[in-house]
Amino acid sequence: MPQLTVNGQSFFADAPPDTPLLWVLREDLRLTGTKYGCGMGLCGSCTVHVNGLPVRSCQVQLQSLPANALITTIEGLHPANTHAVQKAWIEHQVPQCGYCQSGQIMQAAALLAVNPTPTDKEIVDGMNGNLCRCATYSRIVGAVKRASEILKEGV
Ligand code: FES
Ligand code: FES
Repeated sequence: MPQLTVNGQSFFADAPPDTPLLWVLREDLRLTGTKYGCGMGLCGSCTVHVNGLPVRSCQVQLQSLPANALITTIEGLHPANTHAVQKAWIEHQVPQCGYCQSGQIMQAAALLAVNPTPTDKEIVDGMNGNLCRCATYSRIVGAVKRASEILKEGV
């Protein structure tokens, strides 16, 4: 049973080693903000952070997680849900149905963590693997740019 830290809280995952992380998050921990889309690593709706890096949690088996992995889901991105990306998402009214948006936000937060001032092309490239059936792509690009400004402003 691997020990995981999810959103700052430690627990032992009592599940077979080949269980996808997404299942543990949603079924065992009831962290249902992370969504199941394709189950094949193709849509990005299940994106969470493992040790700060974005991963498709439907494709990560428990046994492949690093020891003492630090996992962050949308519920733990910011203690008050006011991460720069979350603020920008609200300002730009990005979501339509919302299903893909947790994954989009987690991907954007990871992108800005390594590149706080991305160009338009870097945003498009960085967000490219996160699909949105409602086609909110232009608002996503605008919101990532706004999140970059918020980070610069330090608010
Ligand atoms: S559900 Fe994981 S990438 Fe689509
Ligand atoms: S907002 Fe509906 S799938 Fe992206």
